[in-house]
Amino acid sequence: MKNFITFEGGECTGKTSIIKYIEKEFEKRGIGYITTREPGGIRIAEEIRNIILDVNNKEMTPECEALLYAASRMQHLKQKVIPEIKAGNIVLCDRFLDSSLAYQGYARGLGFDAILKANAFALDYLPSLTILIDLKPEIALKRLENKDRESKKDRLDSEGIEFHTAVYEGYHKVYDMYPERIKIIDGNKPLEVLEWECLDIILKHIDGDE
Ligand code: TMP
Repeated sequence: MKNFITFEGGECTGKTSIIKYIEKEFEKRGIGYITTREPGGIRIAEEIRNIILDVNNKEMTPECEALLYAASRMQHLKQKVIPEIKAGNIVLCDRFLDSSLAYQGYARGLGFDAILKANAFALDYLPSLTILIDLKPEIALKRLENKDRESKKDRLDSEGIEFHTAVYEGYHKVYDMYPERIKIIDGNKPLEVLEWECLDIILKHIDGDE
């Protein structure tokens, strides 16, 4: 689907700051856009998000987790993403199906096929461009500790380094599946450089050069 741009990567890879920068640059240029996120972006999906990320839901199975992400995704797509694209806006979305492939498919061990089946309804609406911020969890997770966000960690943040390493590996396998759609950005670079690189890729994509 045209005009649908997603941002992917593990925890604390800088996606949120980059998206804020792109928003500012879009505003300067008068480009119509909305920003949203998964899981969430609308009331029903935010409620599903709270269930998934609640640290008290320790007994949640990987299958239940995967299906809840898929359910929130479809509601968000139909209620918000598709109407905004039809209205001519560019949708900037923090996470989408690739997160389910990397987190539930690979790191939780459900397999890519099971995730693609669970997300069959969403496969008609794949993004036109995905920016994947590539940063090893050993480095990224230090940011979480440095910011003293221990008390704010959700159920997935709280997983151990092995899980986050598996997510990192999972993303590389997802890239191998969709190398044309996904652009990998080296997350080790200073934030200003990352922001500029992402803007350049996105503007070229919108202008149809890439
Ligand atoms: P966020 O912290 O980037 O807002 O994302 C919420 C968490 O949900 C994050 O740990 C990644 C995880 N996640 C999945 O495991 N599968 C998914 O399909 C999505 C969209 C997010």
